[in-house]
Amino acid sequence: MPAAALSHWRDFRNIVLFTGAGLSAECGVPTYRGVGGIWREYNYQDYACQRAFDRDPMQVLDFHELRRTKVRSCAPHAGHAHIRAMQAEHPGIHVITQNIDGLLQRAGVVVAAELHGSLWRLRCPVHGIRDDLAVGAYAHRHCPDCPPDRAPWLRPDITWFEDAVNEAVFEHAAMLVDDAELFVGIGTSGAVWPAAGFAERARQRGARMVEINPENNEASALYGQHIRLPASTALPEAFPIGG
Ligand code: APR
Repeated sequence: MPAAALSHWRDFRNIVLFTGAGLSAECGVPTYRGVGGIWREYNYQDYACQRAFDRDPMQVLDFHELRRTKVRSCAPHAGHAHIRAMQAEHPGIHVITQNIDGLLQRAGVVVAAELHGSLWRLRCPVHGIRDDLAVGAYAHRHCPDCPPDRAPWLRPDITWFEDAVNEAVFEHAAMLVDDAELFVGIGTSGAVWPAAGFAERARQRGARMVEINPENNEASALYGQHIRLPASTALPEAFPIGG
């Protein structure tokens, strides 16, 4: 069934597109909780929290290298391209993502807030954040700017379980959500906080609420309209451009 088009979407001054792993699913990047989901195969306690990194940094970096390699073998889809086209037509399209894969940016989308960090950045406790855009394997696992005999492990710049979300990034996203006249949740189960609170926040401020997700989930009740289609199909249908 085709999506009920929001043909007047340009009339909304500020639109927030709040995205999750489902947006990348059709590219071949596994989601977290769906069929074949990452957390069904891996226990985050061993691969995606500070305790695991302190215990075994090699294992944690190996895991994230696998994810980088997978993402690099994938390409953005028509849905990503459509978001870029929407941004070209409307200055009020604000993208807030939970995704760390960088596929939106690879499609030329301007991302206002990367809530959970990125697979393509690392942190040194001395020198701070550094990009690592190497294909798959990290260029460095220890900080190359620190004296080699005491160079610390580089930690992926990712908001892992038990981590706090970067406050400045969160506040910026919250400000955009507060101004949203249309809030579109795309490919997220709404299971992880505080990000999951944005849908309720937008709804309470009277935003029009639209969900793009083939499946119903715990956050679905917050949305007034449900587009039960994959993102690559739903986005062009729901937000028509040209013609
Ligand atoms: N198009 C749209 N939605 C899809 C598609 C698709 N092609 N395929 C799957 N989905 C939906 C699923 O139905 C599910 O509701 O995407 C959602 C993915 O949910 P999760 O795997 O829970 O991913 P997400 O909501 O992004 O997880 C939030 O949890 O593990 C942490 O930090 C991680 O950012 C992540 C956060």
